[in-house]
Amino acid sequence: MSGIIAPSILSADYTNLERDVKLVEAAGAEYLHIDVMDGNFVPSISYGPNWVKQLRPETNMVLDVHLMVMNPEKIVDEFADAGADIIGVHVEATPHIHRALQMIKNKGVKAEVVINPGTPVLAIESVLDMVDQVLVMTVNPGFGGQKFLPSTIEKIAQLKAIRDELGYDFDIQIDGGVNNETISAAYEAGANVFVAGSYVYDKVDPAAKIATLKELTK
Ligand code: DX5
Ligand code: ZN
Repeated sequence: MSGIIAPSILSADYTNLERDVKLVEAAGAEYLHIDVMDGNFVPSISYGPNWVKQLRPETNMVLDVHLMVMNPEKIVDEFADAGADIIGVHVEATPHIHRALQMIKNKGVKAEVVINPGTPVLAIESVLDMVDQVLVMTVNPGFGGQKFLPSTIEKIAQLKAIRDELGYDFDIQIDGGVNNETISAAYEAGANVFVAGSYVYDKVDPAAKIATLKELTK
């Protein structure tokens, strides 16, 4: 099975959002990555649960919500009710990561824990038995269009080793700086879900970009 591609609408054209969503779906993207930023955990501000609610009936893609917000446990229920399929919470954003993940699961939504480039795998070891997906940030969160950080590759390999050893079954997602030059190393290390924003949306032919990423993760 080839890698799962999750285009990030952060780099889409918001005045043509429906077009940009349908375009990546038709090109075979399985997930739609939705970056929620609060202007506090990260400097930027993006969108809230209402975006998820309005996108839900427009696509059959898995809605993959990445919460870059402080104290995500305060808002996970709202995103679940809006129609998110996966909700990701940063371990750096709350003293209650276990509770936040439990709340997501209680809503019947897939639970994801996220680590920043400066956070070791050790910081999430005690919740790895309860998550459906781990997101290894391959840039510092907050903006699209940044350069992939190769130092994060080792963490992907570590997570894969832990998963194999302990029999867990979470997916390993990466996010940030993913393109035709960076995806292979992450794939070889064990990642299987790939967020791509600017590479897919910034230049011509998003469909061809998705095909390339799929080809490189077969
Ligand atoms: C960054 C976001 C990413 C962003 C990736 O904070 O979490 O999802 O959209 O954009 P690219 O692929 O351009 O690095
Ligand atoms: Zn993201």
